[in-house]
Amino acid sequence: MRITNLVVDNFRNHAHSALELDAGINVLVGPNAQGKTNLLEAIYLSCVGRGWRTVRDNEMVQFGQDRALVQVVATKRFGNVEIAIQLGQGQKKSIAINRVPIAKVAELMGQINCIFFSPDELKLVKEAPADRRRFMNIDLSQIDKSYFYALARYNKILQQRNASLKNGCGLRELDIWDQQLIQQGNLIIQKRQTFIQKLMPYLVAKHQALTGGQEIITMHYETCADFAVDLAAARERDLRLRTTTVGPHRDDLAIMINGKDVRMYGSQGQQRTVALSIKLAELDLFADLTGEKPILLLDDVFSELDSSRQSRLLTAIADTQVVITATDAPKVGKIFLVKHGTVQPQ
Ligand SMILES: Nc1ncnc2c1ncn2[C@@H]1O[C@H](COP(=O)(O)OP(=O)(O)O)[C@@H](O)[C@H]1O
Ligand SMILES: [Mg+2]
Repeated sequence: MRITNLVVDNFRNHAHSALELDAGINVLVGPNAQGKTNLLEAIYLSCVGRGWRTVRDNEMVQFGQDRALVQVVATKRFGNVEIAIQLGQGQKKSIAINRVPIAKVAELMGQINCIFFSPDELKLVKEAPADRRRFMNIDLSQIDKSYFYALARYNKILQQRNASLKNGCGLRELDIWDQQLIQQGNLIIQKRQTFIQKLMPYLVAKHQALTGGQEIITMHYETCADFAVDLAAARERDLRLRTTTVGPHRDDLAIMINGKDVRMYGSQGQQRTVALSIKLAELDLFADLTGEKPILLLDDVFSELDSSRQSRLLTAIADTQVVITATDAPKVGKIFLVKHGTVQPQ
């Protein structure tokens, strides 16, 4: 799939910007704080229904304005799709697909898929487990709507269970929450396991290509041996701590290079390459599962690579639509100058 048009109104520092994107590489160029990343965020929003840097929709509305509009047209194998998202101050966002309003964000999932890569993505490797769970949650939701639903249900039940624990509820009430939590939790665990298993062969290949065969990567999902058993075993502790201490909301991903845990022992450069390998592996996995290549969004990472890595990356992403932000224009692709929230194609 590829995005042909992006239009934003009152979106962050853009009063009105419209871009016609190329099928291959697109580069948004300009000094800092001009609105380049904001445009990537607008694309991201049209793919997953939420902002890249915020969970609060109104932060994306231009200061002093009531509402923001993001409109994206994409070409897919079976025709075009147009996504329109309106964000308002103090009101729920509205989303339309081909001009038909949808009731649930879940319906947006999978319409246009994107993979976002920024220096922040290092978190995926070195920061807290929450960042790795976020990666699984967002990326898996794009290719599997039922995952998105299961996750929403799980989080709701978890909240209710925790509230019950805080209020000193009876054991019978806990039994009811546990039953529901286990049902959704097992679904999430199983889908994450399958996702990581499917991602592995692509990941190994991408990482070998990026490191010139120097590094063998492995990744596996760290979860309970048996959620139902573990939850029952943790009950006393949960009652004492008044919160749910086991389950997929506490799980993690273990990433190893040549047998060593990169979360702890990897160098900055290694961790960066691992994060990039994961994203590139996802491109191929998404393409295989959905029959469409997702759109790759590269924020501030291209210019940090030396020229040999740049060309390895470009080879790895041939026939993918890419939108890159950079302060200096690389000598590739269609160039757009971004200045004070305006965009000018070159
Ligand atoms: N809601 C908003 N309304 C207006 N301007 C905003 C809003 N949110 C962020 N900005 C501005 O956007 C600019 C940053 O844009 P960004 O896309 O991150 O820049 P860069 O070109 O460096 O990627 C900052 O000047 C910031 O103040
Ligand atoms: Mg930026």
